[in-house]
Amino acid sequence: MIKMKNLVLGYKKEKILKDVNLGIKGGEFIGIIGPSGAGKSTLMMSVVGGIKVFDGKFKVLGHDMDGIKKKKLRKIREQIGIIFQGYNLVDRLSVLDNVISGMLSDIPVARAVLRYYKDKELKKAKEYMDVVDMTKYTAKRCDELSGGQRQRVAIARALAGEPKIILADEPISALDEKSAKKVMDILKRVNQTYGVTIVANLHHLDVAKEYCSRIIGINGGQVVFDGKSCELSSEIVEKIYTTQK
Ligand SMILES: Nc1ncnc2c1ncn2[C@@H]1O[C@H](COP(=O)(O)OP(=O)(O)O)[C@@H](O)[C@H]1O
Ligand SMILES: [Mg+2]
Repeated sequence: MIKMKNLVLGYKKEKILKDVNLGIKGGEFIGIIGPSGAGKSTLMMSVVGGIKVFDGKFKVLGHDMDGIKKKKLRKIREQIGIIFQGYNLVDRLSVLDNVISGMLSDIPVARAVLRYYKDKELKKAKEYMDVVDMTKYTAKRCDELSGGQRQRVAIARALAGEPKIILADEPISALDEKSAKKVMDILKRVNQTYGVTIVANLHHLDVAKEYCSRIIGINGGQVVFDGKSCELSSEIVEKIYTTQK
């Protein structure tokens, strides 16, 4: 799915991530952890382009990311779902409309505007709303939902695009413990039911340990740990979270 070899990434003239070597396979559930400013979001967003490649090799879904053409990048983006902290929903639209909008590249704009959906599309949307346990709220406007519910709709919408990979940048950082657990349970379900590869930036170490099959620890733009959660000793955790001077 994703391959990085001696990769150096950053913005304009500033190199942020140095010498990253990672291979991510289909079906993995990966948690990226590390202090604020470590480069977690930069690493994650590089997968959908827009981050400068200074050096090294970088492949996503078989395509070379260095100097990639717009058309090819669009093809990659169609296969990747992105979940931020609740930012990517249309507030004034219903849960159903938001979920279906995840299929939009397949649905002509006129039909979307008129909300003329085919049975097949509705059936799929209902399936995804069921996966995220939002069937009860299908007709509700998204601005009437709680933070956790919004995040679940965002997951359903990402699923509607039938992605190979879902990128989740701090998906639970603004949620209370109970809602956070629900969102993580759903991400796990999505991973197991659909085999979607999940890469999540996580603030809470214990959550990452509980849910992720693999943890990548970043500090100061470098991968300082890459392994299973059971391999995370307190020494390594300290290395990941100690601010570098
Ligand atoms: N758009 C940008 N332009 C320039 N520098 C950026 C940009 N976004 C982030 N950075 C810098 O990149 C570094 C890593 O940031 P980020 O990837 O957001 O870290 P994290 O997600 O781990 O908190 C920080 O020093 C930050 O200031
Ligand atoms: Mg970040």
